[in-house]
Amino acid sequence: MEEIFPFAESNELSNDIEDLKNPIPFTLVNNIPMDGTNFIAPYVAVPESVAIEAIKFANLNNEDCLVDLGCGDGRILYLAHQEVSGLKSFGVELDPYLAMFASNKVKNLNCIIIEKNMFEVNLLELKATCLILYLLPLGLEKLKSNLKEWFEKENTSNFKRIVTINYKIPDCEHEFEKCVISLSNSYNLFSYQNIIGNTH
Ligand SMILES: C[S@@+](CC[C@H](N)C(=O)[O-])C[C@H]1O[C@@H](n2cnc3c(N)ncnc32)[C@H](O)[C@@H]1O
Repeated sequence: MEEIFPFAESNELSNDIEDLKNPIPFTLVNNIPMDGTNFIAPYVAVPESVAIEAIKFANLNNEDCLVDLGCGDGRILYLAHQEVSGLKSFGVELDPYLAMFASNKVKNLNCIIIEKNMFEVNLLELKATCLILYLLPLGLEKLKSNLKEWFEKENTSNFKRIVTINYKIPDCEHEFEKCVISLSNSYNLFSYQNIIGNTH
């Protein structure tokens, strides 16, 4: 039997977006399978209460530049700006509908949404200091060499860290871990402060 992927909670997303020219473009939200595409994770939004815990866990301050690779509707970025004034952030999203939705959500904030494949984004150029990632292990594995390069090169005086939601970066040691309960589901948060020489 053909495997059906757990697709988007698309009923949470409105079509009523200012500036949205094509309400339902070719998108994961519209139940297009990921096979043969650059998508490494389906759109599943993190509950807002868990996003807030992940933001606190990341220990952000006003000198940070937060990046969400696969930012979905932009909720982590939006909530991070509510928690930390003076924050700068970027969201990267391949799905054009979600990228448009996220742009609209963060439009009055110091946040830029980039509609792009995350593997083509240079975290050093963005001067990222913190990443919050809600991706599947396969995607995290694929991202590992980009993450290592980012950790290795000096491009900011701020210390760098990654927080992952629910899934660990395969074969990497995390420094801290926290469990968060939301509507009787438990979510694990993992914090990495370096992954150089940390792989088995
Ligand atoms: C599990 S969702 C997380 C959404 C959001 N970060 C959150 O926590 O609510 C993963 C997101 O990654 C996006 N995505 C998957 N592959 C991508 C890629 N190669 N480049 C950019 N975004 C991608 C999906 O469209 C989806 O919105």
